[in-house]
Amino acid sequence: MATIKMSTSLIQLVHLLADKQFHAGSALAAQLGITRAAIWKIVKQLEKYGIKLESVKGKGYRLMQPLELLDVKQIKAPLTVAQQQSIERIEILTSVDSTNSYLKNKLELQKRPVSICLAEQQTAGKGRLGRSWFSPFGANIYLSLSWKSDKDISELNGLSLVIGVAIMKALEKLGLSKGIGIKWPNDIYCQHQKLAGILIEIVAESHSHTRVIIGIGMNVNMLNQPQAAIDKDWTSIEHITQQYQNRNVIIGALLKAVLDELENIKQQPLAACLAEWKKYDVLYEKAITLSHQGNNISGVGKSINEQGHLLLLTNDGTLLPCSSGETSIKQFCA
Ligand code: BTN
Repeated sequence: MATIKMSTSLIQLVHLLADKQFHAGSALAAQLGITRAAIWKIVKQLEKYGIKLESVKGKGYRLMQPLELLDVKQIKAPLTVAQQQSIERIEILTSVDSTNSYLKNKLELQKRPVSICLAEQQTAGKGRLGRSWFSPFGANIYLSLSWKSDKDISELNGLSLVIGVAIMKALEKLGLSKGIGIKWPNDIYCQHQKLAGILIEIVAESHSHTRVIIGIGMNVNMLNQPQAAIDKDWTSIEHITQQYQNRNVIIGALLKAVLDELENIKQQPLAACLAEWKKYDVLYEKAITLSHQGNNISGVGKSINEQGHLLLLTNDGTLLPCSSGETSIKQFCA
């Protein structure tokens, strides 16, 4: 697995170029205390990641797009002291195959309940149902959280729905939730376009102990990517708001909301946490199709039951609880 840790010079260079003005290579080199050749190397690396830079003889380099890199200090800011203490560490990687796989394969002992990994880019980001997750450099959120739970695996069905609720609460807190809801089980949608997704992976089980990797991908500052690169209609926060967004602020709010929900799960049964899910349900009373292992069932969405299973009112009048599958809306009126 190729894992690239964020280099301090790369971070400093992006900070210096953040004003989108030209900076001479010699001035940049002097400010960072490295050679001009080293500056050139970092510029080439950024270009390799798809970041657009202009380089003009006699003027130097300038960034042609806004770029704010991930920053632990800003990410941690909204967390309570207890939440900060519950975190073993927050790792920020420049590039990794998948943040979920990275945490999953980490063999070191995780003493505290939570460990977090974020990346600027994923080269093999994973989606649900074996799909891939498009993860260009510096644009979006690729966040994984390893959670040591004292619950048995059987008590964690529905966890992904609770994480969906956490994402919605974070967006509400940031004033960004207008027109956004959850498509069962845990896709975050704006109108008929996907904004964010959740991938939960269970790593190890012992008696009454489970380690869960919670992966969240959210499209934030992604504009103008070829639709073909992604297998679904997609949107991003920048697309919705028409404004470049600070990913660190959104990640902070997401982490806070996820940690709040994990605390809730400890204290109350999952069913109580799921009650809130209903308010975000974009399938409710909609004509939908559920696809599962090559079979399609049509019906009307009737929310979820206490286990988080979708309730589908089929054409013959049966109220069918469905525990897995992929839903699509036949007629979408948000
Ligand atoms: C989905 O298909 O809706 C789930 C997408 C989950 C993507 C995130 S990005 C961070 C984490 N790492 C991965 O490889 N996948 C998840």
